[in-house]
Amino acid sequence: MKIKNYGEYQRECVNNIPQNIRDQNGMIKSALNIDITNWKQHIDHLTAQIPAQFLFKSNYDALSFFKSDIKGLTNPQIHLKVEGSWSGLHEEHLRLRTVNLNHGKGIIQALETYLSMKIGPNTCLWYAIGGDQIPKFQQLVQGSYKIDIYKERGSYFPDIDFCIKNGIKLHYFAQEPGDIVLLGPGSWHWVKCSGVTMNTSWNFFGKDILQFDQAFKRQEINKILSIKVFLLTIFF
Ligand SMILES: [Fe+2]
Repeated sequence: MKIKNYGEYQRECVNNIPQNIRDQNGMIKSALNIDITNWKQHIDHLTAQIPAQFLFKSNYDALSFFKSDIKGLTNPQIHLKVEGSWSGLHEEHLRLRTVNLNHGKGIIQALETYLSMKIGPNTCLWYAIGGDQIPKFQQLVQGSYKIDIYKERGSYFPDIDFCIKNGIKLHYFAQEPGDIVLLGPGSWHWVKCSGVTMNTSWNFFGKDILQFDQAFKRQEINKILSIKVFLLTIFF
């Protein structure tokens, strides 16, 4: 599907309540991980505005060692969503840091012109659990719902009351338009948006002990679960 086609879907969502535009499987559609390698103006804008300490391919990012770009890894991507779209519980590959910008204006205006419609901005609601809580949470979810959070990556949306009732400490916050969310290594998170939104995100491999320690630990889990991560073959 092209962005323009998804724009038409968003327009329908704006004009109708989302429940009326679910597909035959009852799903609400999101357009995720869209490559923007060729969006030079947007990339240049981000490079100029984002501090080097968490900017993709900066001197602080170990992913800058790659000799050439790898789509979805060394470059940012955009995500387009409608009201009710959500991303399920997951941690980033190799527990990399993630940076996520909820657009308020600028690039969003350029896309609005291209799509001939208004596409936001709106708020995204974030939930996050520190890695130290995960062993306990994994057991709770397995026992209560028969879900293995490692194997069902991104397809389970935890209930906040379930977390609180079971003593899981979590972070819950609203990402307003223009806000940037930074998540540390090994932070499990899930997100829901409250309207049509556009976000740009990227991973960041900090050159610090915490990041490398977490990456090695996740690598060991991947071996046990037979999960293959492209990055492993390059770094380790
Ligand atoms: Fe994520």
